[in-house]
Amino acid sequence: MRKPFIAGNWKMYCTKPEATKLASGLAASIGSLEEIDVALCPPYTALETVHNVIAGTRLRLGAQDLAWEKEGAFTGEVSALMLIDVGCEFVIIGHSERRQFFGETDQSVNRKLKAAISGGLDPIMCVGETLPERESGSTLDVIRRQLDGGLTGIACEKLTIAYEPVWAIGTGRVATPEQAQDVHAFIRGWLNHAYGPAAGGIRIQYGGSVKPDNVAGLMVQPDIDGALVGGASLKIESFSDIVRGSTKRK
Ligand code: 13P
Repeated sequence: MRKPFIAGNWKMYCTKPEATKLASGLAASIGSLEEIDVALCPPYTALETVHNVIAGTRLRLGAQDLAWEKEGAFTGEVSALMLIDVGCEFVIIGHSERRQFFGETDQSVNRKLKAAISGGLDPIMCVGETLPERESGSTLDVIRRQLDGGLTGIACEKLTIAYEPVWAIGTGRVATPEQAQDVHAFIRGWLNHAYGPAAGGIRIQYGGSVKPDNVAGLMVQPDIDGALVGGASLKIESFSDIVRGSTKRK
């Protein structure tokens, strides 16, 4: 049985004072829950602030990206070591916004996954199809390509996969539990084939317009183990309700 895992991707929101307010509210409301793993992923500039606020609670810290190199002349980049230094345990890799706006490819995702794992971070690897890809019936081909390319040479311990259909992100158009489950089952099959029994512990999150009123229906699906939440993770009440609503009842 996999423990549910909810992560809040704050994207490019929250100055330090805003981050302090949000993280303290969450620490008070969901900071002691034991039956669920929760990670907050603020922007780089608020990582240390949030780390200090959530110290002593069960909330965990994650970053939204990292460099594939360990250190060096790479202006603007942030390494795994630096993320560990400010208290991160997780890192999101290959989010569709990075693929769409910043040239991320399956190859760069692969290099970043290797950097994260060798640096001691637990990666959350994002996959997902665009609307034209879904409409042309190529969803599973896209997911297979992303998994094949991204996970080449990657060990599966500590890995989390986030299935985020691009058409569901920030649109209010959540995938139906059945649509999500179909892709999650495909991902689970891919993982079983690639990793054998060790794959049983890998959690697969769903992301894309997750809200307090749709999370339970998603979580009840056999292969949905959690959620990667964007917009609704920026409000204390909605994120707390999502976390509380994701206790598994299967
Ligand atoms: P929304 O929850 O705002 O749709 O964003 C999902 C997402 O991209 C999380 O990484």
